[in-house]
Amino acid sequence: MCASPMASSATKAAPLVTIANAFTKPHWIPKFIKPSSVGVKKEEYSIDCTRYQKNLGRNDELKRRVRDLYQRIGLVYLQNTGTRNAEELQRPFEGILGGGGVYTGGANPRSPVEGNVYDTGVSMSSFVHYHHEMAYVDTTVRNVFFTCSDLTPGVDGSSYVSDNVRVTDNIARTPLGMKLKDLGVCYIRKLTDREHYLHIPQVGVYNHWQKSFLTGDMKEAERRARERGLEVEWGQNREMITKYYAPSYEYCPDIDRNLLYASLADHSIWFDTWPLVEHLPQEDRPLKMTFGDDSEFSEEEVAQFVGIYDDHGIQLNWSPGEAAIVCNYRFLHGRPVIHLNAGEVRTLGVVLGEFFKRVGALPGKW
Ligand SMILES: [Fe+2]
Repeated sequence: MCASPMASSATKAAPLVTIANAFTKPHWIPKFIKPSSVGVKKEEYSIDCTRYQKNLGRNDELKRRVRDLYQRIGLVYLQNTGTRNAEELQRPFEGILGGGGVYTGGANPRSPVEGNVYDTGVSMSSFVHYHHEMAYVDTTVRNVFFTCSDLTPGVDGSSYVSDNVRVTDNIARTPLGMKLKDLGVCYIRKLTDREHYLHIPQVGVYNHWQKSFLTGDMKEAERRARERGLEVEWGQNREMITKYYAPSYEYCPDIDRNLLYASLADHSIWFDTWPLVEHLPQEDRPLKMTFGDDSEFSEEEVAQFVGIYDDHGIQLNWSPGEAAIVCNYRFLHGRPVIHLNAGEVRTLGVVLGEFFKRVGALPGKW
């Protein structure tokens, strides 16, 4: 049965299911955008900053425009800023980012780029499914800030966002939408032990719990995981297995309605094309998702769930010096594989906004 995320940290963990799923083929690779995709238009969410370049961070008119756009749409994209400095590019968003920006542990290892700006933590040679940032834990973020500080000319370094208001409206009346609403979802993560792999070549290792929870102490890692609403079990070779039962929908205070707040980014299908992981049987992969009653997603449900985000995709075609804030309720983000030749770069920084504890869907807000 689906446990509430609030209660799950206090209840005794049930034996965790084996990580496995029925899919080995076909590869579920998102298209991100299609000619038929429908989402908010670029001219609606973009601001040309040419006339604000001299005082980008202290211009009240720019700050007001950013705030208004964010409230209305939840996506603000700055162009022609005249700077590549990631900290300077954050300033117009102060007040929306809400004093967040400190990365305190989750799943993807991240390294600082500049100040409180972190790199996005995923290999360029792997695509990233559309996702809400940190949807797999009960303390998540209201928004995510991205900045492109470097991109070799000619390289397509695009990110994509998916218009979740439209997605929610479209999925709500389908059998999948109703099943997600009724059952919720479960995120299962299998985190490896850094010590065990000290002298073993890295094959199949995705993430060590020491790096995820920023501690080498098992008890402290477990405490931090439970604090985030995760059930914890220790497997062979000190593998940390976490399980989080979550509602599929979340109340969005900005627009006073419930929105879908889940995707298959954390399903084991993600690893179908990952170097060092793709060869592994499904049960040895680091992630798995089920419905909240522990039942599997069918192939048809996987296809629909991946496809509906592509149907509402929007391309963010970065140039150096551009920055965007993405409301984590109203948009998902993701990207295809980035092809870089020797000497080519694509540096995208990320700052996580204000953290909040999930409340799930609220009655009367559909
Ligand atoms: Fe992300």
